[in-house]
Amino acid sequence: MDQVRFDYGNLMAPRVEGGTDPDALEGPLAAAFERAHARFERRRDDGELGFLDLPYASETVAQVAELADGFGQWFEDVVVLGIGGSGLGGIALRDALLGPFWNQLGDEERDHFPRLHVVDNPDPFTFRGLLERVDPARTLFNVISKSGTTAETMAQYLVARERVEAAVGADKARGHFLFTTDPASGVLRQISEAEGIPALPVPENVGGRFSVLSPVGLLPAAVCGVDPERLLAGAARMEERCRTSTLRDNPAGLLAVLLHHADDAKGRHIHVLMPYADRLRSLAAWFQQLWAESLGKARREDGTERATGPTPLAALGATDQHSLLQLLMEGPHDKVVLFVDVVDPGEDVAIPARHPEIDALAYLGGHTLGGLLATERKATAEALRREGRPNATFVVSAVTPEVLGELVMLFQIATVYAGALYGVDPLDQPGVELSKRLTYGLMGREGAAVPEIEPSDTRWVI
Ligand code: PA5
Repeated sequence: MDQVRFDYGNLMAPRVEGGTDPDALEGPLAAAFERAHARFERRRDDGELGFLDLPYASETVAQVAELADGFGQWFEDVVVLGIGGSGLGGIALRDALLGPFWNQLGDEERDHFPRLHVVDNPDPFTFRGLLERVDPARTLFNVISKSGTTAETMAQYLVARERVEAAVGADKARGHFLFTTDPASGVLRQISEAEGIPALPVPENVGGRFSVLSPVGLLPAAVCGVDPERLLAGAARMEERCRTSTLRDNPAGLLAVLLHHADDAKGRHIHVLMPYADRLRSLAAWFQQLWAESLGKARREDGTERATGPTPLAALGATDQHSLLQLLMEGPHDKVVLFVDVVDPGEDVAIPARHPEIDALAYLGGHTLGGLLATERKATAEALRREGRPNATFVVSAVTPEVLGELVMLFQIATVYAGALYGVDPLDQPGVELSKRLTYGLMGREGAAVPEIEPSDTRWVI
């Protein structure tokens, strides 16, 4: 049986009021998917979808494994500096595969693998706090930036470099840095070549948010003992499953088509990803960026302009049953909820049978915490269905590297299909450029014009 299954029954009419007509899956939606699939295949043939090749990049994997092995033995702490697509994937893999308490485990419990910190935001409070807690002489900084120009990451690099040099001297400091960047261009590549700092490649045709299965995500995971081959094996399996142009057999195709249809035809613009597992909370945050930055576009590929794109929202079950569920059940009919159900939660916790005389507690005894979580997921999906609120569930066997690889590949492929369905280019992000340029100007970067920031009107400030 597949380790990742997609149960989309609760998106379909008449199971859910206002759901998708099942006949459409054989008719117009199948035809729309065939066009999206053909567009996808053309982009694959043109070498634009480099993320599809990552599961088969055995040379890079060997390079990652070798570096990870050496670094993993030498360093006590690994600090990843990277933001957006250069940070979120690593965080998702770390939280899923190392678990919530990795950095608090003792050396032996970690099997002497290092602690792993991913600092995506240049918030001085966090960064200073971290730098005060790690020993620079036993810390590796993995600086991840495809472009090598991202202000947040580069600023953190400069701070870290100075800190390490002060602790171990300029010569030795070089051995505390590893860059992950474009194979040929950019500032990090330039420094790497000038100073002999090792640098892993992010293939030229792999964009930030599609890079988690490149050294961007693989190195930090591997350095802590995760086998990259297992991640990539899962990704390869999903990549193969998604080659078909038959909508009914293609999980990424179904996800893209059903979410696009829900948005475009039924006004369900908000797409909530709500795993029922703490370890997958960061995967939902990764998906949020993937879906938002890829599909939120003003320009369409046919040259027309129309603000387009769904709004993704990362949530967590059961926690957000006590936060968002009221809105999901009774708020505007503008949402689709995607659950992730983990069949085997790993080590489960039995709930003891105590207070048999108290009804509100007695029924819990004899169950497990994992069973409670799974039951709540099932009950919430059914409650939403009864209220005419479409939802679907990814049923995954367990939180393993293979399953993570499958999920990541599924979401990435679905994103590219969805781009074709929305008529936008999911691989670019022109909307983030203006604020970057304004920042450069305000921070005094050479060649960047100093912008006028229109001050707020004092009438509107209290
Ligand atoms: O998905 C993307 O392309 C972005 O989110 C980038 O990953 C992010 O802006 C960081 O870019 P870089 O890796 O060049 O530092």
